[in-house]
Amino acid sequence: MSRPKITVVGAGNVGGTVAQRLVETNCYDVVLVDIIEGVPQGKALDLAQAGPICGYDCSVVGTNGYGETDQSSVVVITSGVPRKPGMSRDELLATNTNIVKGVVREVARRSPDAVLLLVANPLDAMAHVAYRVSGFPKQRVVGMAGVLDSARFRSFIAGELGVSAAEVQAMVLGGHGDTMVPLLRYTTVAGRPVSEWLPKERLEALVQRTRDGGAEIVSLLKSGSAYYAPSAAVMTMVEAILKDQKRVLPCAAYCEGEYGLSGVFVGVPARLGRGGVEQIIEYELTPGERAALETSAAAVRELSAAVDRMLAS
Ligand code: NAI
Ligand code: 2OP
Repeated sequence: MSRPKITVVGAGNVGGTVAQRLVETNCYDVVLVDIIEGVPQGKALDLAQAGPICGYDCSVVGTNGYGETDQSSVVVITSGVPRKPGMSRDELLATNTNIVKGVVREVARRSPDAVLLLVANPLDAMAHVAYRVSGFPKQRVVGMAGVLDSARFRSFIAGELGVSAAEVQAMVLGGHGDTMVPLLRYTTVAGRPVSEWLPKERLEALVQRTRDGGAEIVSLLKSGSAYYAPSAAVMTMVEAILKDQKRVLPCAAYCEGEYGLSGVFVGVPARLGRGGVEQIIEYELTPGERAALETSAAAVRELSAAVDRMLAS
């Protein structure tokens, strides 16, 4: 049976877990790539051996090269160092730009029709690297962060109210960093605005906890960063793309005029389908929300400009 091929680059915490989630659907063939000899091969073998127990029989290959990645439909790029306690995502810029640049060169020529789904941090800037290096149309380069940040916010609200997280809808826009923009006016619980459920100070505390959500986990783990929720967020995006679901999800997408932003990847609601980012959906924003999004985009723009300088040198 022929299945779409998905390449996952980086067989660490996020990449390994993404590979596991992918094979467990039995809908995709998976190629797991890493520079460390033995790790992608060992994880792929382990995943294949779980197949008879879990009931999947798709192909899963681990490799240190790119030959097996030819004609992938989606390439998930998790290769890059995670932050340590006390570090910001932005401090990873130089190291991860080099890693992502090399990876994108390899995958873009072997899978010229793929959608590139970026995970490595700083996320929005890494999407910028992939866009510049691949030469792909903007629709086929997208970053994962908003689905994760929104899920964190949903989970905090659900916990606070003692309701199922399935009842909570939320949209977190902006860059994946301290300036991210949880949109309270578009956050609802069972269809009712969240402001009718929780007092302002509680909501503000949950917004701040969302902004610090990645750092909270880094400080608990002490080594490495979150990967269960991030890999689940990647899955949501992969399925939206390959199953042409037309879901509207917050993603790092390349804006060209939307929200008054141009030439920058930043978290915005996007309709995801077989073509990748098929449309950026423009929500009505209050002046305060718009200003917050602009501040966040300005922070990303600074990193993207640094990327451009690195790529030019
Ligand atoms: P990890 O350290 O567990 O795995 C990274 C893997 O990338 C390692 O196995 C490493 O050998 C590999 N790698 C490094 N250079 C490579 C290269 N040139 N080619 C192939 N593989 C290479 O890290 P983890 O936890 O998987 O996180 C990966 C990245 O994703 C980090 O930058 C982290 O900050 C980011 N991240 C982003 C999230 C988001 O919301 N966008 C969420 C979670 C993590
Ligand atoms: C997170 O938010 C590390 O960016 C990653 O967990």
